[in-house]
Amino acid sequence: MKLDILLGLQWGDEGKGKVVDVLTPHYDVIARFQGGPNAGHSLEFNGIKHVLHIIPSGIFHPDKINIIGNGVVIDPVTFKKEIEALEKMGLHPTENLFISKKAHLILPTHKWIDAMLEAQKGEEKIGSTLKGIGPTYTDKIARNGFRVCNITAPDFLDKFAVIFKQHTDLLIKNAYQLQDDMTTVFTEWFDALQTILRFKLIDNEYEINDYLKAGKKVLAEGAQGTLLDIDFGSYPFVTSSTTVAAGACTGLGVAPNQTGRVIGIVKAYCTRVGSGPFPTELLDETGELLRTQGHEFGSTTGRARRCGWLDLVALKYAIMINGVTEMVLTKADVMDNFETIKICTEYQIGKETTDRFPAEIDTEITPVYKEFKGWKENLSLEKYYENLPQAFKEYVAFIEKETGVAIRMISTGPDRSQTIIRA
Ligand code: GDP
Ligand code: IMO
Ligand code: MG
Repeated sequence: MKLDILLGLQWGDEGKGKVVDVLTPHYDVIARFQGGPNAGHSLEFNGIKHVLHIIPSGIFHPDKINIIGNGVVIDPVTFKKEIEALEKMGLHPTENLFISKKAHLILPTHKWIDAMLEAQKGEEKIGSTLKGIGPTYTDKIARNGFRVCNITAPDFLDKFAVIFKQHTDLLIKNAYQLQDDMTTVFTEWFDALQTILRFKLIDNEYEINDYLKAGKKVLAEGAQGTLLDIDFGSYPFVTSSTTVAAGACTGLGVAPNQTGRVIGIVKAYCTRVGSGPFPTELLDETGELLRTQGHEFGSTTGRARRCGWLDLVALKYAIMINGVTEMVLTKADVMDNFETIKICTEYQIGKETTDRFPAEIDTEITPVYKEFKGWKENLSLEKYYENLPQAFKEYVAFIEKETGVAIRMISTGPDRSQTIIRA
C-alpha cells in the first residue's frame, strides 16, 4: 500500500478537517504530518461542530488509528484540553491515538517569543496565530528542540533548564515583560505532559511503514495550505513548516516512492487569515458576503478571514508542487445566491500577463478574471452530481480543464452528510 496525502491548496481553512472525517471510513490510519495548534480543523456530524488543532481528524472513528507524526509540534496544554473534550464525549482516545517520540514540544516561552517577534515586526507582522509555531520549529532546526521522547529521559529536567534559560535570556534581553504568573503557566505545562504520557509513544516511521507493508491504508493529513509553505508559500507571510506533499514524507518517515494519491482540497473561493499578499482579495461587499455567508472566521483565533475569488494561477502552482492527483471542491454552496462568480485565470504584472506564481508575490498584481453565471440553487439539497445545476457543472468543468485535475468530491456544507462523491 502507498501513503495517500490530503492537503490544502490555498492559504489554509479549505475544509480539510471535514473531508478527512468523510474519508476516514476508507482508511485504517490517519496521520498528521506537520503544523501544530495553529491549525483548526472543523468537522460536523449529528448537528455538532468539532474543532481539532493537534489531533488528526479521524479521531471520531474509534476503530481507526490516529497518529501525531514527527513533523508536528505539540503544545501539551492544548493537547490536554483536546483530549479532555473528546473523553467528555465518551471517546477513548488513549486507545486509538499514538504520538511520535520525535514530535517537538511547544513551551510557554515559545509562545512569548512568538509574541515578542511579531511585536518587533510592527506593520510587517505575519499575523501569526501566536501559538509558538515559528520559535518551536526554529529551535528544532537549530538542534535545540525539546522532543516528546525527552519527557521520559533521565536528563529531562537538565535539558528543560537549559532551554528555559535560553528562552528567558532572550526575552529579557528584548525587554519582554515576563508574565507574573510564570510559575502557574509552567505548572500547567508540566502537568499536561502527564496527559501525553498516557498515550502510546511510537517510532512513527517504523509503525507507518509496517502498516503500509501489511496492506493497511494510511492517509496523511496536512495542516495549513500550500501558499503558507515555508519554501513555496508567499514568504515571509507563511508558517514555519513544510505544508506541501513532500512534508508528508519528512513529517512521517515515509519514502517518496511509497506515496500514492495526493488529494488537494480547494475552496471555491480564497480566504487568508493574517497578513501577506492576496492577489484576488475582495475588499468590497462581495468579499463581505463571502465572509458572512461562508462564516469565514478563524477556527483557532476567531479572526475574520480575508476573502476573494478563486485564483487559478495559485491553484495550478499548488497542484504542480504537490503532484495533486485529484481535488475536492468545498464551500461552493456559499455562492448559491450569487448572480455572477469570477475566477482569476492570469496575473497582470505591469504590461505583462502571466500564469506563473511569482517569487515576489507582493509585487503589484492585477488579476485577470473569467466571469461565470451563478447557479442560483441550493447545492446542499442534492446528493448526486448529475442533478446539480448546469451552471455549476460548467464552473467545475472549467476548473478541471484549466488544471487538468479531476474534482472527485464536492462538499456542499459543513456536515459529513453534505458531500457528493463523483463516480
Ligand atoms: P480546515 O482548516 O481546512 O480544516 O478548515 P476549517 O475547519 O478551518 O474551515 C472550514 C470551515 O468551513 C469550517 O467551519 C467547516 O465547518 C466549514 N465547511 C467545510 N466544508 C464546507 C462546505 O462545503 N460548505 C460550507 N458551507 N461550509 C463548509
Ligand atoms: P489550518 O490547518 C489558516 C496562518 C496565520 C498566519 C501564518 C503564520 O486550519 O488550515 P503561524 O501561527 O503558523 O506562525 O502563522 O499562517 N495560519 C493559518 N491560516 N489556516 C491555518 O491552519 C493556519 N495556520 C497558520 O494566520 O498568517
Ligand atoms: Mg482551519
